[in-house]
Amino acid sequence: MLLSVEHLDKSYKTGRRSSTQVLHDISLSVNQGDALGLVGESGSGKSTIAKCLLRLIKPEQGRIVYDGIDVVQARGADLRRFRREVQMVFQDPYGSLNPRMSVGELIGEGLLVHRLAATAAARRERVAEMMQMVGLNPADMDRYPRSFSGGQRQRIAIARALVIGPRILVCDEPVAALDVSVQAQVINLLQDLQRQLNLAIIFVAHDLAVVRHLCESIVVLHKGRIVETGDRNAIFDAPQDPYTRALIAAVPTPDPQVARAHRASRRHSPATQA
Ligand SMILES: Nc1ncnc2c1ncn2[C@@H]1O[C@H](COP(=O)(O)OP(=O)(O)OP(=O)(O)O)[C@@H](O)[C@H]1O
Ligand SMILES: [Mg+2]
Repeated sequence: MLLSVEHLDKSYKTGRRSSTQVLHDISLSVNQGDALGLVGESGSGKSTIAKCLLRLIKPEQGRIVYDGIDVVQARGADLRRFRREVQMVFQDPYGSLNPRMSVGELIGEGLLVHRLAATAAARRERVAEMMQMVGLNPADMDRYPRSFSGGQRQRIAIARALVIGPRILVCDEPVAALDVSVQAQVINLLQDLQRQLNLAIIFVAHDLAVVRHLCESIVVLHKGRIVETGDRNAIFDAPQDPYTRALIAAVPTPDPQVARAHRASRRHSPATQA
């Protein structure tokens, strides 16, 4: 097991003496090379889980273990290795890239931070290689993010995360802000990279349609609790939980008649409450 999460609880402070618990007894695990989808409506706790996994926030209860490292407690060499091997791609391709840095600087930053390329020339070479890998033109290395489309910016963000050779990529709704046609391209890219690099991917999304293609196993989250977990086919063919069924009903289908029926049922499904 590359990453495992056991019985995680997380609360946020809502006032001086009050707090609300937003994660209840979350357990999940990911193997090297696996893609896990984390699905649920807005506010179900997806990003909170992602942030705990990345050690950006601390859970009150439970354990997160990455390749033998206790993530919450890690220090020193363990913490440095964790920071290098577990990387993240965020939803907003506009807000997550510093507009004053060139694409080359953005992608190469991790190499500097982790001292992975000794010379500027070595960095440029590695950056060019990464740009190629994510479908960007290395000749654009000295341009700034503003001159790139949303999809291209997400490619920059992916290259930036992958440049230091992580083993896990946590993607928090990385395509939610993109046009549908561009979404498919970025998901295909992630799938290619997953196979090529034997990456584990944790992919957070609102709806099942987005994860269906990429993720072999799926965790369905509702109000901070896991309501269903299993492999993709089991979840789609025989969903056990009513909430999962509602999410599946909300998945767009190409058949217009079926789609109409789904639209009608979707009006009453919890999946669209935001
Ligand atoms: N910093 C915070 N302080 C207080 N409450 C928070 C904080 N961050 C999130 N919450 C609350 O925790 C719950 C879970 O939020 P979270 O962002 O994890 O959900 P999500 O599933 O990622 O939603 P979305 O799909 O909208 O991104 C929500 O009720 C949210 O309002
Ligand atoms: Mg979120």
